[in-house]
Amino acid sequence: MGKDVIIACDFDSAEKTFAFLDKFTGRKPFVKIGMELYYAEGPSIVREIKKRGHKIFLDLKLHDIPNTVKKSMAVLSRLDVDMTNLHAAGTIRMMEGALEGLTRPDGTRPLLIAVTQLTSTDQESMEKDLLIEKPIADVVMHYAHNAKVAGLDGVVCSPLEAGKVHETCGEKFLTVTPGVRFADGDVGDQKRVMTPAEAKKIGSDYIVVGRPITAAEDPVAAYERCVREFVD
Ligand code: C5P
Repeated sequence: MGKDVIIACDFDSAEKTFAFLDKFTGRKPFVKIGMELYYAEGPSIVREIKKRGHKIFLDLKLHDIPNTVKKSMAVLSRLDVDMTNLHAAGTIRMMEGALEGLTRPDGTRPLLIAVTQLTSTDQESMEKDLLIEKPIADVVMHYAHNAKVAGLDGVVCSPLEAGKVHETCGEKFLTVTPGVRFADGDVGDQKRVMTPAEAKKIGSDYIVVGRPITAAEDPVAAYERCVREFVD
């Protein structure tokens, strides 16, 4: 599995998404479709982007009873996405159900990645709202371990956690890391950030980059800079 840069296509319409993707006339980037775009346009947006030759990470973060997740994953798998995800908090049984649903009749399936604790959750909110009183770093590693036990391919995590996840779950367990910024760029609302080069050094397998590319004056140049720093 090669390292790659995934562009977060956080747009609210197909029109804006295609205006953005039309700029990429050479290499077709791996793109992430999140809830905003999927709920705005439905499954057709996935089919259309796939038809244009892009790999797709469908970031819908499923979390429900195992049977519902299993059946929903079977539907998403038919969309021929390359990677999708769920919340590890849904339990090992839910994750196993998801894998089962995702596996196509020919045995192939998209990569399945777990969200551990969202980076918007901190120690205080975890204790107060969720009544989880362990240190958040331990909770993140425990959820990553559960994902590995369930047979998943990896986790979404901060680039700062990627090294520890590999130590806990093995080098082949994938780390997909958002929170990436250029050394000379705006941090925006991301708190714990790393440059693409640092993320490479620390062992991230995929970086997810949104605004540093989508809001750049020259998105193609910004994407190529990410690829140069992270992949090449
Ligand atoms: O624009 P930016 O580079 O911050 O976009 C990062 C993308 O990764 C967004 O789509 C965001 O929702 C997603 N993400 C994140 N932090 C997480 C999980 C997902 O920033 N912990």
